[in-house]
This record gives sequence, C-alpha cells and structure tokens, in this order.
Amino acid sequence: MHEKSVELLNKAIADELTAVHQYMYFHFHCDDQGYDLLATLFKRTAIQEMLHVELLAERILFLKNDVEMVTSSAVKKINNVEEMLKMATEMEQESAKDYNQWANECSANADSVSKKLFESLVLDEEGHFSQYDTELNNLKRFGDRYLALQSIERSKIRDTATIAVQ
Ligand SMILES: [Fe+2]
Ligand SMILES: [Fe+2]
Repeated sequence: MHEKSVELLNKAIADELTAVHQYMYFHFHCDDQGYDLLATLFKRTAIQEMLHVELLAERILFLKNDVEMVTSSAVKKINNVEEMLKMATEMEQESAKDYNQWANECSANADSVSKKLFESLVLDEEGHFSQYDTELNNLKRFGDRYLALQSIERSKIRDTATIAVQ
C-alpha cells in the first residue's frame, strides 16, 4: 500500500536521523567550548528531529510497511561555531525543500495523510532554520563578543552554584 509514500517516508527518516546525529555532535562540542545557549539549541532541535522520526515511523507502520533505521550520511566533524550554524541552516533549508516536494508527490499518489505530515514537518524545519539563522546573524554582527557572552553566562551560573552549595 502506497509504496511511493513509504519510500519517501523512509528517506525522510534517514535525513532526520542524520540531523539527530549531527546536531548532537554539535551539542557536545558547543558544551565542551562553553557555549551554553548554542549547546542547548542544538540538543533541543535534535530532540525535535527525533520526534519527527517517530511521526514518520508511525505512518510507515500504519501503511503496513517497515522502518529503515539508516542515516543518509556520516556526521561531519565540524568544531567551528560559525561553520556549525552554516551547515545547520543549509540542512534545514534542504529538508524544507524536500518535504514540500514530497508532500506534492504523496498528494499526486492520493495519500493525503502523508502529504499533511510532510507539510507539518515543513513548518517545523522552517522554524529550525529561522532559529539557526538568527544565531548565525548574531554571530556575524557581534563576532567574538557574542561567543564570549555565552562563556560569561556559564561562569555566572557556576559561581552561583558554588555559593548555593556553601
Ligand atoms: Fe525534522
Ligand atoms: Fe529541523
């Protein structure tokens, strides 16, 4: 039932899983470098992509097929914050473009539920794009001061924690 939809839904799962891995990799490195705001943003987005996998998987099972839990590409070992944000904005733009197209393909194959699912994912991916794009613009506008501020915020939290313990 709906072979074309199942193929597209599985392709989407591979892209979402790739995003989960990539964003968690970025999360680890932002956390390690003391950039708390970005570390949290990458982790939160990774969790949202994982929830996308769940929605896509539920649809595949409803269509009496099975889920291919593979990624579409390996994690890129990028440790520079500006490069991370650039890559993340490109990934989100690509997802929004693909999902718009795949929504149309599902519609052409008389599968309106999968079409609606892809359309709702487009909305989320555009939201992710907007968040990453805002951070990228802040970084370009304020440069190192933007990154320094994130480290200072962490120091404040650490100080407070120490006082609280005493
Ligand atoms: Fe997603
Ligand atoms: Fe996304």
